[in-house]
Amino acid sequence: MRAIVFLCLLHAASAQWPSLWSSLDSLNEADNPENACEEPHSCSCCLILQQVNSLSTHFNSTLNELDKEYSQTLQQFSKFEASRTAFSVALDFSTFKCHGPKPADINVIYNHVFLNLGSGYNVNTGIFTALHSGVYTFAFTIHSDAGAADSPLAACAELYVNNTVVARLSEENKEDQEDGATNVVVLQLKAADKVAVNMPKGCSLCDDNNHYNTFSGFLLFATD
Ligand SMILES: *[C@@H]1O[C@H](CO)[C@@H](O)[C@H](O)[C@H]1NC(C)=O
Ligand SMILES: *[C@@H]1O[C@H](CO)[C@@H](O)[C@H](O)[C@H]1NC(C)=O
Repeated sequence: MRAIVFLCLLHAASAQWPSLWSSLDSLNEADNPENACEEPHSCSCCLILQQVNSLSTHFNSTLNELDKEYSQTLQQFSKFEASRTAFSVALDFSTFKCHGPKPADINVIYNHVFLNLGSGYNVNTGIFTALHSGVYTFAFTIHSDAGAADSPLAACAELYVNNTVVARLSEENKEDQEDGATNVVVLQLKAADKVAVNMPKGCSLCDDNNHYNTFSGFLLFATD
């Protein structure tokens, strides 16, 4: 700003040398262009000063605005980082065996954890608790093996949110020996909602360490 004012003064001074010193006095008041404008010999200078001043105000407020947006973006990003949620679990038995059939419905407790980012899945209960309200994707895959082509075996499971079934899988072995099925849903959940896979009575899930039975979920985006 000073450089522009100085050039401006040189221009004024070349036309009217005697006024140079009074113009230089007005340079001391460069922060206050209103005063500079009262100087009769520095009119073009005064216009430039006014423009420089309004540009400076403009850039200052633009910078303030950008600063505000930057800290809002940082805040949103750290909220996003804190809400990262993804889990993927499976049944894992050292030798091939079937879990079920049971005389009553039971929660499937997947004992092998591939990933539990955000610690929403409880490996002791098999229940995933949403720590953030948002839109989530869940997938569950089941597998069973009757052991022989003519032995009946039902592979079935249900995905629960709190006490409500949202999706089912059901495969009954008749002619074939093995069965498998997968279901994927996208759900809007509230914080503290609980999601789990139920194995209805009479159903079986069979596995070894190949992880034929999996349950996975992740937060697509948070809504709180
Ligand atoms: C620029 O903006 C800040 C914040 O509003 C203010 O404190 C400061 O005085 C301004 N500076 C100028 C040169 O306008
Ligand atoms: C689901 O259950 C949890 C824990 O019992 C409760 O906090 C939440 O409000 C329930 N959600 C719905 C949608 O009822």
